[in-house]
Amino acid sequence: MNETLAKTDIKIEQVSTSRVHEVDFSNLQFGRMFCDHMFEMEYKDGAWAEPVVKPFGPVQITPAMNALHYGQAVFEGMKAFYVDENTVHLFRPKMHHARFNRSCRRMVIPETDYETFIGAIETLIKLDKAWIPQESGTALYIRPFIFASEDYLAARVSDEYKYYIITSPVGAYYAEGFNPVSLTTPDGYVRAVKGGTGEAKTAGNYAASFLPAKKAQERGYTQVLWLDAIEGKYIEEVGTMNIHFLKGDTLITPMLTGSVLSGVTRDSVIQIAKDWGYKVEERKVSIDEIFEASENGELTEIFGSGTAAVISPVGKIEHNGKTLEIGNGKIGDFAKRMFDEITGIQYGKVEDRYDWVHEINV
Ligand SMILES: Cc1ncc(COP(=O)(O)O)c(C=O)c1O
Repeated sequence: MNETLAKTDIKIEQVSTSRVHEVDFSNLQFGRMFCDHMFEMEYKDGAWAEPVVKPFGPVQITPAMNALHYGQAVFEGMKAFYVDENTVHLFRPKMHHARFNRSCRRMVIPETDYETFIGAIETLIKLDKAWIPQESGTALYIRPFIFASEDYLAARVSDEYKYYIITSPVGAYYAEGFNPVSLTTPDGYVRAVKGGTGEAKTAGNYAASFLPAKKAQERGYTQVLWLDAIEGKYIEEVGTMNIHFLKGDTLITPMLTGSVLSGVTRDSVIQIAKDWGYKVEERKVSIDEIFEASENGELTEIFGSGTAAVISPVGKIEHNGKTLEIGNGKIGDFAKRMFDEITGIQYGKVEDRYDWVHEINV
């Protein structure tokens, strides 16, 4: 069946049979099952063509396409939350879209408009509402991405792009309780440098992080704690999270220096902490300062923030053969309160005082 949505003029090709019965909602794994429909839009001859929502499935690409060879590609990661049978919430889609466009600008990819983005997501959510998990802690993960698709093997900016949005039901991150993660600083590796691509959500940043992350995991650590690339002294962020430190009633967060991803959850944590009356410092934070604060007993909590886990307690950091341990294997009170506040807003249980939630009537 084809129909056109007036709002954003998205052409819809619906599946004839849904695959939703194949989903085991009691055992969801991240990014394994994809909803019936996906959004697709192509860029050619200097303009984005007609947007379509169509059955999820393989896409045709040329082996010569730029994204495969030179990595001209960007993505976003956000979530939709089941509130009740008529209501779904998106969390801060405007901020995600603004970052998507910033990533595009850095990677010389043509920008896209918010109306198409939100129209596409609303269309997908309405069509695939049966795929949205309902259990507490679960969500529908939304992955918008754009890649350079021109059939031309030269190391230069592509003239053609493909823009997709795919969605996937994801389970509760903390189904078995909060397990604090352990981090280690990378020996001899850097993630990003000011002026590079660290603040863009682009494919190559992640590819570059896989080897150091693998080495950290082989040594028993969950993830890498990245330090600045010039002095190897200042804390930047974690694999797919920003990081925060609580010292008494001061929340300290590494500032956005140009090499750190500007997290949507990071921004939410900072705004909420200010409202709660905490002193908030966004500044350079050295790894030595954190070890010292831990030794002096001043450091109260360490936690990461990101779309996937929302808040992730950090229990251990290793750096240059020294180890800092914090929290006795438990999530701290501040981190737990922050987790409850943000998830409360996401699921419509806590008042949305910041106008962060975009409600969809399904
Ligand atoms: C490198 C990196 N840092 C931080 C984050 C956290 O950002 P957000 O809170 O927007 O998910 C992510 C996840 O998107 C990430 O990939």
